[in-house]
Amino acid sequence: DCFDFLFKIILIGDTDVGKTSVIQRFKTGNFSERQQSTIGVDFIVRTLNIQGRKIKMQVWDTAGQERFRTITQSYYRSAHAAMITYDITRKSTFDSVPQWIKEMEQYGAANVLMAIIGNKCDLESEREVEFNEVCTLAKQKGIVVALETSAKEAQNVDQAFIVMARELLAS
Ligand code: GTP
Repeated sequence: DCFDFLFKIILIGDTDVGKTSVIQRFKTGNFSERQQSTIGVDFIVRTLNIQGRKIKMQVWDTAGQERFRTITQSYYRSAHAAMITYDITRKSTFDSVPQWIKEMEQYGAANVLMAIIGNKCDLESEREVEFNEVCTLAKQKGIVVALETSAKEAQNVDQAFIVMARELLAS
C-alpha cells in the first residue's frame, strides 16, 4: 500500500449532526437513515488522487455526546485538519461551533486546519442557519473553508474532503 501523503482528518460537532453519515458517504457512497450514535471514536481510510498524487485520507469519526469528550479529545492532537460539523436545521448545533473551535485550539496541534461544515442541506424547508451567518463566523475565526453538505443526497461530501486535502497539500 503506497501513497505520497497521509492526512488525518477529524470530524467533531454536536451529536446527531451527521458526522458518521458524512464519513460513511465518503467511504462507501451509501447513506443509512438509521445511523447509531458513535461510541468514542472510529475511523475510515480512503485514498484520493489529487494532482497526480496519492493521498491517503484517514478520517476520524468522534462521538458528539458529552460523556465521550475525554476520549475524543485525546485524538485531537494528531489530526492535520478538523471538520467542525453542525446541522443546518438545528440552530443550537451551529451555536456550539465556537465552543468546538475553542476545544480544537486547546487540544489540537498548533497549525491544525479547520473547516466549518453545515450538514443536512437537503432539508432546505427546515433550515435554521443561513449560509452567510456561517461565512461571517468563519471569517471572524480565520477559518478559510465553510461548506454545506448532504450525506443523504451526496451533495458536496467528496468535495469537502477534496478541499481539505488541497488545503493541506498547499500548506
Ligand atoms: P453522534 O455519533 O451521536 O455524534 O452523531 P453523528 O453526528 O455521527 O450523526 P449521525 O451520522 O449518526 O446522523 C444522525 C441522524 O441524522 C441520522 O438519523 C442520519 O440518518 C441523519 N442524517 C445524517 N446526515 C443527514 C443528511 O445529510 N440529511 C438528512 N436529511 N439526514 C441526515
